[in-house]
Amino acid sequence: MSNQQNESGVTRREFVSTASGAAVGTILAASAPSLRAQAKRRYAIVGTGVRGIGMWGSPIARRYADSVEFVGLSDPNPIRLEAAKKSIGVSCPTFTNFDEMMDKAKPDLLMVTTVDGYHSEYLVKALNRGIDVMTEKPMVIDEKQCQTVLDAEKRAGKKIVVTFNYRYAPKHQKIKELLMSGEIGKITSVDFSWYLDTSHGADYFRRWHAYREKSGSLWVHKATHHFDLVNWWLDADPVQVTALGSLANYGKNGPFRHTNCRPCPHKTKCEFYWDITRQPRLVDLYVNAEKADGYLRDGCVFRSDIDIFDTMNAVVKYSNGANMSYSVNTFMPVEGYRVAFNGTRGRLEVRDYERQPWDPGEESEMYVIRNFGKREKITVPTRTEGHGGGDAVLQDLIFKKNVDVPPYMQLPGSRAGAMSCLTGIAARKSCDDGKPIRIADLVKIPT
Ligand SMILES: NC(=O)c1ccc[n+]([C@@H]2O[C@H](COP(=O)([O-])OP(=O)(O)OC[C@H]3O[C@@H](n4cnc5c(N)ncnc54)[C@H](O)[C@@H]3O)[C@@H](O)[C@H]2O)c1
Repeated sequence: MSNQQNESGVTRREFVSTASGAAVGTILAASAPSLRAQAKRRYAIVGTGVRGIGMWGSPIARRYADSVEFVGLSDPNPIRLEAAKKSIGVSCPTFTNFDEMMDKAKPDLLMVTTVDGYHSEYLVKALNRGIDVMTEKPMVIDEKQCQTVLDAEKRAGKKIVVTFNYRYAPKHQKIKELLMSGEIGKITSVDFSWYLDTSHGADYFRRWHAYREKSGSLWVHKATHHFDLVNWWLDADPVQVTALGSLANYGKNGPFRHTNCRPCPHKTKCEFYWDITRQPRLVDLYVNAEKADGYLRDGCVFRSDIDIFDTMNAVVKYSNGANMSYSVNTFMPVEGYRVAFNGTRGRLEVRDYERQPWDPGEESEMYVIRNFGKREKITVPTRTEGHGGGDAVLQDLIFKKNVDVPPYMQLPGSRAGAMSCLTGIAARKSCDDGKPIRIADLVKIPT
């Protein structure tokens, strides 16, 4: 399967060796030996919101000070930018103009943590300057951006890293290892349901994520995590996607609406009322910064111009012959997921509990059930830090030298970034056009 020709006419092995995959290794290893020998990487961030600060700012400044020097922070919102600098605790210059930062600060490693719709712009600019670049997921939000980024990477001869932290959660690594062991035979289908609750799920509808042009919709913004996991777990490519989606509860469906929660006349009767002023950190970052860009972090979940889906179902066909039925629901009383892999020799079942109105007793339940055999409970390594422990592992892999990981735990590159986004882009398009969408019809992968 690993050298099978996919429908874009590119073998998986060729793709891995050209577009990224194993070639990425670690970002330090991917760099020229001279960069490895440098005492410190000249590190800059574009997009200084919560993710830029909390994942790629403060922990990096705190834990990797011996290998990383912050040389610049950039964000169009000058107030958020200064609040971010203070929060990260660095003394580097700040820039509202990205190009000025690149000219003056001369980073050799850029982290892109902007609103999703702008990742491609900064990836291309960094590649054109010949520097290493990492991006938060999703790598891009539409097929045009995807083509532009892949072509720019090929031209530059550099490698993008896409920071898919979910892969690094020990429970997800465990699933990968169980599937690789062949325990349940050849995988024929996957059942995958993701549940977002009335707190976390609703929050996507308060923020910029509620607009397709900013997030690509939750098919891209959120589901890219899940599609990347499946591509990686199965070691396969998506080939075709058929999907349905609706906006059934948020947006225009609300019984009333306002611009945002703070001045809302309906706050006493709205179940989704959310008081941002109770969180001083969010006040510093967003409320105080509103006067610079007008962005309301506590937007009304019932705004009538919300144009993403809150209820999504898809069927995905993969290059190894497996199919997946996948769903996301965003106003549930529970947060977490169920995934099951059906194989020729048995089934792997996982239920992950993130938040629910009862005590499930454990964070995840995992079982291997053998055909004509017994059910075996798998002990799942649990970690409580960011994203099941995945965030810290990923940071170590990027910023520590000589971190040994098996080949399947190497850093994901543009290929993984593209394939996961394209699954969601195809799903969105299938909802809009009412027909199956072939991945190979969306993007031409550079060879
Ligand atoms: N891997 C994960 O688990 C995870 C978790 C959260 C967020 N993220 C990703 O991180 C990124 C940032 O998300 P966030 O939650 O920090 O959002 P945020 O709204 O807190 O921050 C986004 C920042 O981008 C800036 N921005 C807006 N337009 C811009 C432009 N044209 N150019 C440059 N910057 C611009 C905003 O001013 C803001 O400071 C997103 O891509 C998101 O998908 C990933």
